[in-house]
Amino acid sequence: MGLEFMPIFEGWAVDYDEEVNGANPEYQEVFANYWQILDEITAHSGQSVLEFGSGTGNLTEKLVAAGKTVYPVEPSPEMRDMAAKKDALQATSFFAGDMENFPLPPEPVDTIVSNLVFHHLTAEEKQKVLKEYNQILPIGGEIIFGDTMFLSQTVYDTYLRTEKEAGRQNLADDLEREYYPVIGELDQYFQKSGFQTTYRQMNRFVWIVYAEKIMEAE
Ligand SMILES: C[S@@+](CC[C@H](N)C(=O)[O-])C[C@H]1O[C@@H](n2cnc3c(N)ncnc32)[C@H](O)[C@@H]1O
Repeated sequence: MGLEFMPIFEGWAVDYDEEVNGANPEYQEVFANYWQILDEITAHSGQSVLEFGSGTGNLTEKLVAAGKTVYPVEPSPEMRDMAAKKDALQATSFFAGDMENFPLPPEPVDTIVSNLVFHHLTAEEKQKVLKEYNQILPIGGEIIFGDTMFLSQTVYDTYLRTEKEAGRQNLADDLEREYYPVIGELDQYFQKSGFQTTYRQMNRFVWIVYAEKIMEAE
């Protein structure tokens, strides 16, 4: 699994960049501080970066502009096409793949990044891939993921109710359909996979998790 939501991205690719800038009122809070989130992930990334779910290439573009070597992996051909059209990304290759099945970069990477992607994986899939990412990264290497996550089940329940009451039904459906984690559980996955974490909240929904590899996974 992990790719069960791909039909959503077929149609979304063309409008995606307008939505990150607030064009869809239902998703304005999810995309609040979007560019700041990308800047933050870029600023904390090392020199050689594996990026998952590169979408229309917005984070890729920031990483390239910062002089980093980037290996963007994206399962949606429509999203890859949108990214490949951007002037600043003409020298960048976008690889077909996803968080579970992807071509290994041709050189060692020190950072693995993604933004608004990890929630497509179930709890089981998340735990499996974190062990694999541990094997790819050196000690001191880092995973930096921006994504919607919740401080507790109670916070999730409250937000879901709020979205329904506000009539933001698409967002509410999304929250119920995909695999948005509670931070305490997510943190256990990272710790069991040999990572030490810190978190920063970037808007009402989105946090960044910084996870440094401190030991080999068991
Ligand atoms: C909300 S968009 C985020 C795009 C980009 N990272 C950004 O910050 O604008 C989610 C992206 O993840 C991709 N995606 C969906 N499932 C995935 C998976 N299992 N592995 C990797 N990427 C996935 C989608 O095709 C889409 O491009």
